[in-house]
Amino acid sequence: MEVIILNTPKEVEQMGGQLLAQQIQKKPASVLGLATGATMHGVYAYLSEQHLDFARIKTFNLDEYYGLGPQHRCSYHTYMRHHLFEKVNIQPENAHVPDGLTPDVEAHCREYENAIEQAGGIDLQLLGLGEDGHIGFNEPSSSLSAGMRIKTLTPMTRRTNQRDFPPGETMPMHVLTLGVGNIMAARRCLLLAHGAKKAPAVQAMVEGPITAMCPASALQQHRSTTVIVDEAAAAFLQLADYFRCVYKHKPEWQK
Ligand code: GLP
Repeated sequence: MEVIILNTPKEVEQMGGQLLAQQIQKKPASVLGLATGATMHGVYAYLSEQHLDFARIKTFNLDEYYGLGPQHRCSYHTYMRHHLFEKVNIQPENAHVPDGLTPDVEAHCREYENAIEQAGGIDLQLLGLGEDGHIGFNEPSSSLSAGMRIKTLTPMTRRTNQRDFPPGETMPMHVLTLGVGNIMAARRCLLLAHGAKKAPAVQAMVEGPITAMCPASALQQHRSTTVIVDEAAAAFLQLADYFRCVYKHKPEWQK
């Protein structure tokens, strides 16, 4: 796991955007795994400004609220249209987000996983981090090898994500999410986190034991994961100085 500590949230989001842009330039038919959340706002803003060619790019979002349709203002479909899909030349049929209204969850989950496989698998999986250590919507106690399925949100995640639901909108209790097993199958993972509230989860993910109590800790076993955090989110890392030193002295060929 490569850990990069930057000064500000903006730098984290910009570097995330730059790495995605590099992936798109290097492989114009890349398959990208995409995430939502406030951390990704700057990433998608950066990407939309780069005039990149998305014509052959395929994307698969990690998750969606169960019970919300694509047009619902709080759905992740709406989030993605607003932040990225309407701003780049992606083909609508290439931009996938789980269907929160599917009448058959099991069949939909298998179809979604099959579509990822048919596309050749995820080249680069973008990830945010929940305050409780979730990735996608894999909450603590999630199997570290699970596939896509329906999950129940913890009270903590419901409280945190309530900010995305204006008064009058009831926040769903269930979600569809790719599993940690799907995430681990991506060829490369890129996890971004910033802010002091993420510091305990960042420490547990990077330096704690690999445990279902912190699903993101499974990434310690992923062969190519880069974690980019700001100073506030890195506050509890015992090896912070080491990570800074590694990054500073990264050989030119590796940059
Ligand atoms: C939601 C998403 C996650 C995301 C997390 C962090 O729970 N399902 O994929 O990583 O939010 O969100 P934020 O970036 O807003 O802290």
